Amino acid sequence: MHFIFASLAALIVGSVVSVTAQTCTTCGSIMQQFWRSNLPGKLDHFYTTDNTQFLTAVNSQGYKPEGVAGGVFSTQLGSSVAFFGLFNSALVDHFYTTNATEVKEFEANGYVLQGTAAFVYPRQVCGSVPLYRTFNPTAVDHFYTTNPLERDASLSSYVDQGIAAYLPAPGATNNSPLC
Ligand SMILES: *[C@@H]1O[C@H](CO)[C@@H](O)[C@H](O)[C@H]1NC(C)=O
Repeated sequence: MHFIFASLAALIVGSVVSVTAQTCTTCGSIMQQFWRSNLPGKLDHFYTTDNTQFLTAVNSQGYKPEGVAGGVFSTQLGSSVAFFGLFNSALVDHFYTTNATEVKEFEANGYVLQGTAAFVYPRQVCGSVPLYRTFNPTAVDHFYTTNPLERDASLSSYVDQGIAAYLPAPGATNNSPLC
């Protein structure tokens, strides 16, 4: 047991969060891409694991493809939690949060819960990286990125809203030991 904990601790040097054997597993075959697109003009960053939805947004709803925000899980793994997806059609704004209180607050403000967009880590474990959240109050757009430079660049028109979630380390793939 002590050997296992020491090994895990050695693997996650730099993490300030204590880890138990339950929180890290291999990624299994449930890692998915969190596809990202954005509606020019309106500004609405839209994230989905559903490639069909992503392609529909891009091919028939005017969204511009912006690649992949990171890896997420399609089912609950280890200490991962639901990343709820909401949409406000009047404001044209997709919003994602792990916080059930925020879900209720946004529902009271015209957002419709569309379900669990993905499963993500609520805190830093297993070499995971922050998914930053910023908000543009003028365009009403919630923006999410794991790239600190992109987050910083957005701050000319967006407000820093901290860390929305943690995603598996870049390079983690199905069956890799990085989750
Ligand atoms: C969840 O959201 C509520 C309302 O915005 C906030 O007061 C609370 O601190 C949040 N909880 C966490 C764990 O971030």
